[in-house]
Amino acid sequence: AGQFAVFGHPIGHSLSPQIHRAFARQFGLELEYRGIDAAPVDFEEAVRDFFADGGRGANVTLPHKAAAFAMADERSVAAARARSANVLTLLPDGRIAAHNTDGAGMVRDIAERHSVDLRGHTALLLGAGGAAHGVAWAMLDAGVETLTIVNRSPEAADALADAIGDPARAHTRYWEDLAELGAFDLIVNATSAGVLGKSLELPFAIVGNRALCYDLSYGKAATDFLAWARTAGARYAFDGLGMLVETAADAFELWHGRRPETDPVYAELRKPYA
Ligand code: ATR
Repeated sequence: AGQFAVFGHPIGHSLSPQIHRAFARQFGLELEYRGIDAAPVDFEEAVRDFFADGGRGANVTLPHKAAAFAMADERSVAAARARSANVLTLLPDGRIAAHNTDGAGMVRDIAERHSVDLRGHTALLLGAGGAAHGVAWAMLDAGVETLTIVNRSPEAADALADAIGDPARAHTRYWEDLAELGAFDLIVNATSAGVLGKSLELPFAIVGNRALCYDLSYGKAATDFLAWARTAGARYAFDGLGMLVETAADAFELWHGRRPETDPVYAELRKPYA
């Protein structure tokens, strides 16, 4: 089956090796999948070495997703829109293809695992960095009625809205004005505040009565936002663990041509993060 890896910095806590090995067991595949820690200055060379040495596919996590996109020879539509990639695949002719499964993974987690139909939802996207770029288009594709992008630095929010280029549906507001924006049906936390150990100051008024609050991270990084969401009366509060498993399933299918079962793998990973 060849060699696979996830590149990140740090990489020690990554669940990707465990997820891909569990998928491989479902099909009796022998899979070599490891975590590779590469500092940003070494990332591109480390990926090229990996592919030169028998690597066939790589997942890419923080902080390398933009660099992964930049070094690729070919880009999927999802990667081109996000300008970032979480999957790199070696093509038969030796070129490298970039793909981004983050947005599709989040929407599938919400729609299929949690059985929530996002069509007609008013959506608030908190953050405008790499993670927000990865999910914004998929939220629109899932049928949200409006997408309001709010970021601490307004320039980044404007840049994302401009890239989407659908002013009737996707627009920006100022973080300072959050309390005056009314209530939303879907609130996605795509900031890195939790990962950085910081709390967000968010008004309860943004949480609508059927609101689904979703944090793209999981574990400790998601705790504060989800606690805030429950206190604010959100109907649903979900972390990004299901998204991680779904994004891995898309990469697995791309590389191995088979669709793994995500539910048992998710259930196993959920235990320590219950
Ligand atoms: P990632 O790949 O995780 O998205 P990123 O591209 O560095 O990382 O983006 C981080 C996002 O989290 C940005 O939207 C950032 O806001 P700024 O553009 O204003 O920096 C947001 N962010 C990080 N810490 C934050 C905090 N304490 N409060 C609000 N937003 C925060």
